[in-house]
Amino acid sequence: MAQNNVAIYPGSFDPITNGHVDLVKRTLRVFERVIIAIATNPGKDSSLFSLEERLQMVREVFGGFKGRVQADSFEGLLVDYAERRQARVIIRGLRAVSDFEYEFQMAMMNHRLKPKLETFFMMTGESEFYISSRLVKEVVSLGGDVSGLVPGNVLTKLVKKFNH
Ligand code: PNS
Repeated sequence: MAQNNVAIYPGSFDPITNGHVDLVKRTLRVFERVIIAIATNPGKDSSLFSLEERLQMVREVFGGFKGRVQADSFEGLLVDYAERRQARVIIRGLRAVSDFEYEFQMAMMNHRLKPKLETFFMMTGESEFYISSRLVKEVVSLGGDVSGLVPGNVLTKLVKKFNH
């Protein structure tokens, strides 16, 4: 398979939301495979879900995609991970103008570190543009309902985590 048929979709995925899922599905219209790469920072990780939990949730969500979506994790620089995986494209989602500055900085820095690696931006779907992992966690922690915003397995785990 040609190298450029693989895209890496990096992030925290704490947890994966329907915004992420929509983006992966649309990426699969262009790329043969997507690697969902969960960044880890041992010792400094303040995530709600452990790495294993996050990987498991992603694998459950994309179990039916005939191996075209792989869940993985990495430590260190994303550009080094992409090189190890022989991928030339990083996918990132853009929701609103507020995402732009951070994403632009990251893309430029990554480009400086590895000029052969490209970042492709996808606009999030119109039904998902306001969803973020951070907001979803906040709403559930305060007893709100996020069904429809995250996959069913994630919803169950979120509710359990906050003991509602
Ligand atoms: O879901 P997030 O938190 O917006 O994802 C950010 C992520 C994981 C893509 C970014 O922090 C990252 O690439 N981390 C790996 C370390 C790295 O390469 N840092 C330099 C980025 S220019």
